[in-house]
Amino acid sequence: MQGVYNKIGLFGFGCVGHGLYQVLQAAQDAPFLIHKVCIRDATKERPVHDLEFTTDKESLLYDPAIKIIVELTSDPDAALEIVTTALRNGKSVVSANKKMIAEHLPLLQRLQEQYGTSLLYEASSAASIPIIRNLESYFNRDNILCIQGILNGSTNYILHRMFTEQCTYAAAFAEALQSGFLEADSDNDILGYDSRFKLSILSAHAFGRYISPEQIWCRGIQGITKEDAHFAQRHGYVIKLIAGAKRSAIGIHADVAPHCIPVGEPLAGVHYADNGIQLESAFAGLQFFKGTGAGGIATGSAVWSDISAVSEGYRYRYAKKQVALPVGIPDVARGPEEEPPLLQDTLLRVYIRYTGGSFIPEELFEEIEEVFTRGATSYCIGTAQISALQHTNILQDDRVCILVLP
Ligand code: HSE
Repeated sequence: MQGVYNKIGLFGFGCVGHGLYQVLQAAQDAPFLIHKVCIRDATKERPVHDLEFTTDKESLLYDPAIKIIVELTSDPDAALEIVTTALRNGKSVVSANKKMIAEHLPLLQRLQEQYGTSLLYEASSAASIPIIRNLESYFNRDNILCIQGILNGSTNYILHRMFTEQCTYAAAFAEALQSGFLEADSDNDILGYDSRFKLSILSAHAFGRYISPEQIWCRGIQGITKEDAHFAQRHGYVIKLIAGAKRSAIGIHADVAPHCIPVGEPLAGVHYADNGIQLESAFAGLQFFKGTGAGGIATGSAVWSDISAVSEGYRYRYAKKQVALPVGIPDVARGPEEEPPLLQDTLLRVYIRYTGGSFIPEELFEEIEEVFTRGATSYCIGTAQISALQHTNILQDDRVCILVLP
C-alpha cells in the first residue's frame, strides 16, 4: 500500500467492526489504515485475512504510530478501560458503545478537557443518522424543545414484522437476531434499555443536560400482543417504541415507552430496522431525520465519518452549556452555566390492557376515559402520572401492555 495513512487501532471485530472494514475497503482512497485489531478470542475464525489480529490491547494503546483508537467491542467495562486509557495517552478515540458512553459521559467529558483529546461517538445513538453532529454543530445556538425518536432498530423491526406483516414474535425475533441487529443480551433491546442509553447521550447534546440512564423512566415492547395492535389499528395508530425528552417551562423530562403514533406522522412511517428522530427547536421548528438504525455497514459508515472528523481535529463542544438561551422562548430562567432541572414525573395519557386475572387499580389513574372488557381481557384508557405507574407492580406482569396515547 502506498501513501500516507492515519493508522487506526481497532478494538472488536463483530458486526460493526466488520462493517467498518467493508466501508474502508470500498472507499479505496480513504487515508486510513486499520493497523491492528485487538480481539478477545484468537481462535475464532475471522472473515478477513489481510488484517493483523492480536489479543494484546497494550500493543494498540501504547503504539505511538496509532493516533486513532476505534472502540467497537460489545463489553461496556472493557470499552471504558480502552477509551479512558486511550484518551489519557493523548489518542483520538471513536466509540459506538452506547451503554459505556451513557453511563460515564461526565467522566469522558472531563478526560477530553483534561488531556486535550477528542472522543466522537455518532454511531452510538442512531447508527447511520448524523444526529449528534447536527445537534452539536448546527443546532448549537438554537433552543431544542423536544427530541423524540425510534432509536432501536431491532424492536422497530419486530413491531413492524409482527403488526404490519403479520409475522409471529418468534420469527421476527429470529430474523432480527440473524441480521445482527439484536444485542447479545436481547433484553437490552426488548426492555427498552438500549433506547434509554441512546436518549441519555442525545439529551446531553440537545439540552446540555446529562441525564443518566437510571433517571429515565423506561418501558419496552414486552407484553404487546395482536390485541393491542388491533386496538391501535382501529384508532388509526401504529405502535412504536419511542424515546423522548421534552423541555418545558419548568425543566426537562425524558422517558422511553411504546407509543401509539397516528398513521401519517413521520415516526409512523419508520419501518423495519430504520431509526427516525423528530426534533423541535425554537427557531428551526420541526425537523425529521430517518435512516438505517442498525447493522454493520450503516453503523460502520457513522464510525468512518467520525474517524475522518477526528483526524481533522473535530471535537464535541457540548455547546449548550456555554450559550445563553434565545430571547422570547418559553423556558426556565437560567444563566448560561445553569442546567435546567430534571423532572422525574409527568402525566401520560395511556392505554393499559390486562388479560387473565391481572388487575389494574383504578387509583392509578388521575382520570379514566374508557374501560372495556371482553372475556378475559380488559383495557382502561386514562391519564396517569409516571410515579403512579412505577409504584404499582403491574408493569412487572407480562400479561399487561401499556401504550402511551397521543
Ligand atoms: N441493538 C441495537 C438496535 C443495535 O437494535 O438498535 C444498534 O444500536
